[in-house]
Amino acid sequence: MSGLGFTVAVSGKGGVGKTMLSTLMIRYFAKKGSTLAIDADPDSNLPWALGVPVVKDVGHTREMIAQAPARSAVAGDKASAFENALHEVVQEADDFDIVVMGRSEGAGCYCAINHILRDVIDARAANYDYTFIDTEAGLEHLSRRTTRDVDLMVVVTEPTLNGILTAKRVHDLAKEIDIGFGRIMVLANKVTDETRPMAEKLAREYGLKIDFFVPFDPAVGLQDAMGKPMYQLAEDSPASKAVTEFCEIIQSTVLTA
Ligand SMILES: Nc1ncnc2c1ncn2[C@@H]1O[C@H](COP(=O)(O)OP(=O)(O)O)[C@@H](O)[C@H]1O
Ligand SMILES: [Mg+2]
Repeated sequence: MSGLGFTVAVSGKGGVGKTMLSTLMIRYFAKKGSTLAIDADPDSNLPWALGVPVVKDVGHTREMIAQAPARSAVAGDKASAFENALHEVVQEADDFDIVVMGRSEGAGCYCAINHILRDVIDARAANYDYTFIDTEAGLEHLSRRTTRDVDLMVVVTEPTLNGILTAKRVHDLAKEIDIGFGRIMVLANKVTDETRPMAEKLAREYGLKIDFFVPFDPAVGLQDAMGKPMYQLAEDSPASKAVTEFCEIIQSTVLTA
């Protein structure tokens, strides 16, 4: 089995709407081809948003890998033990597969998580047409190697001064460390008629181009309030429609580039 291997990472500060956007993008692309969802946010809630009950996380995988040589038939055969462990954490849902990275133990342990994320991407992403990574916060935690194979980084922001400044910083950082994304797109979420002109003005002032706007949509909050998976958000709600449009743009521009 070999897919397109098109990999999208969704990044931004906590609460900007990464999980909502990842979920609706996964819903769109899962209809187009084989799709892998990776939850790389330590405050993981992607499985819930996708309506997938319980998933094993990579913390568990890591333990399995640590114990693997002892259990492996071939002593020291870490690579195949890793493959096996990985196979176990990829959970199949109806429309897509999902991997949850879990929490890193202790502070400053992102390197370990990133190492595993990198291996997951290397080992698995090429097998799928589309891979979506719901990442935590900034780019600081993503190593060059981790993101080597990311074709599109979607930087999500809210239409606030702080949000625009953060998006600009992430955008510049990505350029600076030459992280090797195929493309970076800035998406402003929760935008209203009142905030949109201001966000556009601020972005211009700080030299940031906002590629797409997703409106503030009460139906999104309602979905959360009712405890329903975002995956089931009405397709005709404003946020759903906007994300569909965004996905169509990705398909017609980034994917065919
Ligand atoms: N377009 C939107 N309109 C209204 N509320 C939104 C929108 N996008 C996200 N939200 C709300 O913002 C909060 C954070 O969204 P979430 O996707 O969990 O963000 P993140 O994953 O970046 O932390 C949630 O309560 C969600 O309901
Ligand atoms: Mg989230």
